Amino acid sequence: MCSSFLFIGILVCVFSISQTLNTCDLPARGSPYFPKNFSFGVATSAYQVEGGWNSDGKGPSIWDDFTHNYPHMIKNGATGDVSADSYHRFDMDLAALKELNVSHYRFSISWPRIFPNGDISSRNQMGIDYYNDVIDKLLANGIEPMVTMFHYDLPSEIQKIGGFANPLLIPKFVMYATELFEDFGDRVKIWMTFNEPLVFCKASYAEARYPPLVDVPGVADYLCVDHTIKAHAAAYKVYKSRFYEKQRGKIGMALDSYFFLPKLNETEASHRALQFNIGFLAHPIFHGGYPEIMVKDIETNSLNEGRIASRLPRLEGYWKEIVKGSADFFALNHYTSRLIKRSVDPTFMNPSFERDTDVDETVDPTWLNGGAPWLYCVPEGLEGMLKFIREEYNNIEVIITENGWGDSGELEDDNRIQYLKSYLQAVLNAIHDGSHITGYTYWSLVDNFEWANGYTARFGLYAVDMNSPKRERTPKKSAGYYNQVIKSNKIVNEVDMYRLMKNQFVTKR
Ligand code: BGC
Repeated sequence: MCSSFLFIGILVCVFSISQTLNTCDLPARGSPYFPKNFSFGVATSAYQVEGGWNSDGKGPSIWDDFTHNYPHMIKNGATGDVSADSYHRFDMDLAALKELNVSHYRFSISWPRIFPNGDISSRNQMGIDYYNDVIDKLLANGIEPMVTMFHYDLPSEIQKIGGFANPLLIPKFVMYATELFEDFGDRVKIWMTFNEPLVFCKASYAEARYPPLVDVPGVADYLCVDHTIKAHAAAYKVYKSRFYEKQRGKIGMALDSYFFLPKLNETEASHRALQFNIGFLAHPIFHGGYPEIMVKDIETNSLNEGRIASRLPRLEGYWKEIVKGSADFFALNHYTSRLIKRSVDPTFMNPSFERDTDVDETVDPTWLNGGAPWLYCVPEGLEGMLKFIREEYNNIEVIITENGWGDSGELEDDNRIQYLKSYLQAVLNAIHDGSHITGYTYWSLVDNFEWANGYTARFGLYAVDMNSPKRERTPKKSAGYYNQVIKSNKIVNEVDMYRLMKNQFVTKR
C-alpha cells in the first residue's frame, strides 16, 4: 500500500502509519540510544527452519514423527521436512544476516543430527560438519553464534523410553551437551541448554498438543520441568568443571513468560502468576528451590485431592545445590501479556497447572492483535517483565533471546514495525531504569514452521517462498526497519520509515 511516492500516496501512508502507531505505542524515557556494544540479533530453531529432515545421517525427531503421523493436528497438514531449507541453503540465511548487519545469530542444534538415535554411540560426523560450517561462516562475518541445544526436536528413540518423563533424560542430555562443548565450544561462547521448558512440558505432557501427546496435567508437566532443570544444571556443572577454564563461555536457559498486568490493582495476583510462570524455573536457578508459593499451594492441593504427596517433585539436597546458580545470564523469551486477577470460581481442569496457579487471565480489547491469536502488542508488559527480573533476580544480565510478531506474511508489515519499535522502546526504558540488558534478538530471521500452526503464522523479517524449490528469501519492510535501528543504534522514527519506503534497503534475491 505504501509503495508509491506520489504526493497522495504519501498522505495515505502518513495517515495509515499514524493510525497504526496509536494502537501499541509506548512513551519514551531517557536516551533514544542503546548502550555502546549492545548486541542486536535474530533467532531461529533447527526443526523450524532447517528441513533436510533425513539428510546426511540425521535420525528422526519427535516432530518428524508427529508431523508425519498426525497431519490433522497441524494446520494444513504442514511439516518441517523442507521448511526454509536452511540445512541446504544456509548461505541465503547468511546473506540476510549480513544485510541486516546483526551482531549475533541465535540458532539451535538438532540433537538427532548429532546423535541420530539420541545416544553417544550414534555420533554423526556429517551433522557435526554442518554446524561447524555454520559457526565458521558466522564468525568469518563478525556474527556471534548463540546456540540453543534443545528446541523441542527430541530424538525419537529417547521418546520411546519416556522422553522427559524418564530421569534417564538427564544423563542423555549431559552426554549430548558434552559433545557440543567438545565440538563447538572453542568458538561458541553463548549457550542456552533448553528453550522454554514450561511451554514444551505443558504442550507435550499436559495438553496433548505437542508430541508425545501426553495428557496428564498437573503431574507429567511438573515431572518434565523437574527433569529438564536437573539436566540443565548437570550440563552446566560439566561445562564449569571441564570446559570453562579453556573456553570461557557462558550458559543460560531460554525462559519464556507472558507478563501479567494486574487488573483492578490485583498486584498479588500478578505476582503469583509471575512466580508460577517465569519463577517456576528462574527461582530454582537464581535462588534455589521452586517458588515457595508453588511448593506450598501445590502440596495443599495435592493432599486435598487425596494424594499422599505433592504433585510437584521435590527439588532438594544435591539437586537444589547444583541447580542454584546454574546460569550466567537470564535468557528471556517474551512476546505478550495478559491482565490478571485472582480467580474466584476456578473452572480449570483438576488437577492442572492452571488450577494450581488459580488466576483469571483476560486481554484488553484495545490491544493490537497479531496473526497468531495469542499474540497482542503490549510493550508495557516487556517493561514490567524486565523490572520484575531486575528486582527479583538481583539485576542479573539479561539477553532478550526472543521477541517477535506474527502475521499472515505480508511484505508491507507495518504492524511488525510498530511492535518492534514499541518493544525496543520498552528495552530502552528498562535500561534507563537500571536493568542490565546486553542484547535483543528478534524472532525470527525467516518465515518458518510455526509448530501446530504450520505456515499460517509468519514471524520472519524475511519472507520465504515455501512453494518454490529454491526457497527464495525476500526482505519485508521490517527487515529494512531493523537494519536502520542496528545501523543507528537507536529507535528509528517515522521520518526514517519514510526513507525506507524509498526502497533503499529492499533488494529481491
Ligand atoms: C518459540 C518459537 C516459536 C515462537 C512464536 C517461541 O515461544 O520458542 O519456537 O516459533 O515462540 O510462537
